[in-house]
Amino acid sequence: METAELKETVQNIVNEWKDREGNLIMILHQIQNRYGYVPREVSLQLSELLDIPLARIYEVLTFYHYFKIVKPGKHRVSVCMGTACYLNGAPGLLNELEHLLGVSAGETTQDGLFQVEVVRCLGCCGLAPVMTVDGKIFSSVQKDDIAKILSDYSHKEPIFSSGDTGSQA
Ligand code: FES
Repeated sequence: METAELKETVQNIVNEWKDREGNLIMILHQIQNRYGYVPREVSLQLSELLDIPLARIYEVLTFYHYFKIVKPGKHRVSVCMGTACYLNGAPGLLNELEHLLGVSAGETTQDGLFQVEVVRCLGCCGLAPVMTVDGKIFSSVQKDDIAKILSDYSHKEPIFSSGDTGSQA
């Protein structure tokens, strides 16, 4: 996104909401909905335009789980760490993911392709261990399946050594 375009968009949203009560939250919602996160430069601009300390804006952003302050990856990879998945090997799956992608849970790869996160019980414990990519469920996943699953989402030739894919729910 272009900086000038972003600034103009933020200015327009502020103009629309500046005289309304609770406007900071509403403005942040608009930004989050539009961009999928609230970039730091937007928080800085809002701080100036609304005359609100930057720290106050970050208090709001970090209090509500809904808001993200880091640009989301193109593909969201979630590993379930609920009890059934945990006991059936989910920690090993997460380790393998982090190893292959070079990021920790909660981070996005440098190329912006994958975002890794941990979730609690996806409601299909009988299929444990479970992971999802963009909401698609992969069941009974083994550590060796992960490279193949990721490669299917990289839209290129496999970039990791591949194993067999876990059965898909
Ligand atoms: S614990 Fe993973 S789906 Fe329930």
